[in-house]
Amino acid sequence: MTIAVLNQKGGVGKTTTTINLAAALAASGESVRVLDADSQQQAVAFEVPGVEVLCVEGKAALKKAVDKSKADWTLIDCPPSLLEAAPAIPLADLVIAPVPPRFQDLSGFAKLRQTVDAARERGNSHLRLRVLVTMRDVRVVLQGEYEAQLRAAFGDEVLSTVIPRAAVFEKAASAHQAAQQYAPSSAGAAAYRALAEEIRKLR
Ligand SMILES: Nc1ncnc2c1ncn2[C@@H]1O[C@H](COP(=O)(O)OP(=O)(O)O)[C@@H](O)[C@H]1O
Ligand SMILES: [Mg+2]
Repeated sequence: MTIAVLNQKGGVGKTTTTINLAAALAASGESVRVLDADSQQQAVAFEVPGVEVLCVEGKAALKKAVDKSKADWTLIDCPPSLLEAAPAIPLADLVIAPVPPRFQDLSGFAKLRQTVDAARERGNSHLRLRVLVTMRDVRVVLQGEYEAQLRAAFGDEVLSTVIPRAAVFEKAASAHQAAQQYAPSSAGAAAYRALAEEIRKLR
């Protein structure tokens, strides 16, 4: 299964989701390959057991890398631009859009959805889109309202797993690790394990 982790905004948790989902999927022994399609090359900085991270530059290289990948799971960490990320969409079976429940991050999702719908109509008929609520701070009441709005608007397209706002992700990243390696018993690591289970059911 090929998963594109995509949102045109930066700082929403794309790389964190790519790496932590990859780590959680690899933990059960399945092969996982991460393609870092962002020119900022944040994903290649991670060293996760069982996960091969490769840098890919340009549309042709990305297609070749996806076609060549024999891994059970191929995850694409996309650049923060719909235009630049567009080549990943026709290659994917699933687009995961990390969306923090903040006002400034909710806008723009409609455009992403249109882009995915267009790719589906252009022939990638089995392409699915799922929203992942990331960086959820339970202390912020307004975030609950935004999450409820997302669920009301997009229903089953919003994954039930919610990724909490937690310091463990930044700490783990500074050690070039997934939360799964850095602090396996943390709530953050548990959330990505739950996400992996939910994604497995979509396969
Ligand atoms: N759930 C989270 N809670 C707290 N911090 C997070 C969370 N997810 C990501 N971060 C941090 O936020 C920053 C941006 O995340 P990142 O995954 O790099 O976003 P993107 O790839 O979309 O630009 C990083 O410093 C990362 O460690
Ligand atoms: Mg990134």
